[in-house]
Amino acid sequence: LRVAVLVSHTGSNFRALHEASLRPGAGFEIGLVVSNNSGSQALAYAREQEIPHRHLSSHTHATAEELDAALVEELTARSVDLVVTAGYMKKLGPRTLASHGNRIINIHPALLPRHGGQGMFGSAVHEAVLASGDRVTGPSIHYVTAEYDAGEVIARHEVPVLPDDTAESLAARVLAAEHRLLPEVVARIAAESA
Ligand code: GRF
Repeated sequence: LRVAVLVSHTGSNFRALHEASLRPGAGFEIGLVVSNNSGSQALAYAREQEIPHRHLSSHTHATAEELDAALVEELTARSVDLVVTAGYMKKLGPRTLASHGNRIINIHPALLPRHGGQGMFGSAVHEAVLASGDRVTGPSIHYVTAEYDAGEVIARHEVPVLPDDTAESLAARVLAAEHRLLPEVVARIAAESA
């Protein structure tokens, strides 16, 4: 299974996925990394590891339509089977959704349908969890549709919320769970489509 990862900043999930892909019998490989941020750590890592990578953004393509078309072109040229958005801060365009419909998954740092939707990213998610008094949280992986965090949930992993948690301590615990869950789910999809 050939995977493309779309990422904006750090890319620790991308890195976890890449490391998992190198293990014998993984069943998937990272065939492409796309970032809208030319200075992202994710692209630096892709360069270092010699993983095919592209910077696609409003700096490289003037309109959202052109960007959408360029992304489809890249995914098609690289014969990508599965697209993973992991900390990708851009909405996908209609062409990408149409060409790779139900082969695009996203990782979200809360138990969807709780704490998802527009504006729910980064520390805002963990702050909302703390404010809600939820005793559990954790990452969800779901199919991407035109609406934020609204596609079918594929997998979730529960993580406790501890009484003295801050958004930072909670984020770190959830992220560690993300690094396990994402490779697991991608390996499962690879096994199912083999
Ligand atoms: C993760 O918490 C992910 O759930 C969210 O963005 C964060 C990305 O972190 N969508 P990283 O770039 O993979 O380190």
